[in-house]
Amino acid sequence: MQIHDTIAGLRTALKGAGRISFVPTMGNLHEGHIALMRQAQAHGDTVVSSLFVNRLQFGPKEDFDTYPRTFDADCEKMAAVGVAHLFSPGEKEMYPTPQAYHVQPDPAQADILEGEFRPGFFRGVATVVMKLFSAVQPQVAIFGKKDYQQLMIIRNMVRQFALPIEIIPGDTVRAEDGLALSSRNGYLSEAERAEAPRLYRAMDKVRQAILAGERDLARLEQGAMLELRASGWIPQYVAVRKQLDLQLPAAHDSGLVVLGAALLGSTRLIDNLEV
Ligand code: PAJ
Repeated sequence: MQIHDTIAGLRTALKGAGRISFVPTMGNLHEGHIALMRQAQAHGDTVVSSLFVNRLQFGPKEDFDTYPRTFDADCEKMAAVGVAHLFSPGEKEMYPTPQAYHVQPDPAQADILEGEFRPGFFRGVATVVMKLFSAVQPQVAIFGKKDYQQLMIIRNMVRQFALPIEIIPGDTVRAEDGLALSSRNGYLSEAERAEAPRLYRAMDKVRQAILAGERDLARLEQGAMLELRASGWIPQYVAVRKQLDLQLPAAHDSGLVVLGAALLGSTRLIDNLEV
């Protein structure tokens, strides 16, 4: 695996690489990331990944400084799964001057759910992904459904800017007890780790109830939030939305998704389940 820390070096190395299949990450890789890289193999000639902890998408009180950085272990995992090129720029390469031009996603999609609790998050994500796309110039890019709203926003960004990139979703990889794999799971204490799958279970109850014909979605959302609160969590939202645009469903809409975010101790966990 070749490692590049400049855009110029990366572009030179990728000349003649054929169809490029790209998986952007912030590192601290787990099986969820690896599955996307494996999936990327099937969609192109050359798999490129990136590792960059993007300051722009962290709020002032969020975990930018403490975000786990495990560069050597990440490189080993990427090389083992067949990533041909890793782009891992330093902050000076990505942001040589403070980023003053931004990609501002549609507020109707970016200021709800995650965006309500993490103001500016999707602006930071869209801006860095646009810049990564410009550096890598992939034909295909893989994004996990774990970050459902992120996937939707990137897809719409690509559509609206007519970028010649196919966005492919990757299924969420979970631990045996249902907990979605996440770099932030590493923050959990042993007791919290045992409690953590409750988020998935509470959301799965909502999903099962909808499948069984329950249509009072607000009651289901409240039920899940209450269960989490009763177990010591601070739920931020559990919401049933339309898969397509994450807007509120009408009475008999199908193609729904249950999305949730909750704090367990000081760790913020998110998850979602398609219905
Ligand atoms: P990061 O959190 O490192 O995630 C990188 C990719 O892995 C994303 O597409 C994410 O949805 C996917 N992913 C994370 N956990 C997963 C799981 N359990 N199963 C399947 N896929 C999973 O998302 C980001 O980084 C950043 O916002 C980024 C897009 C790189 C921009 O900075």
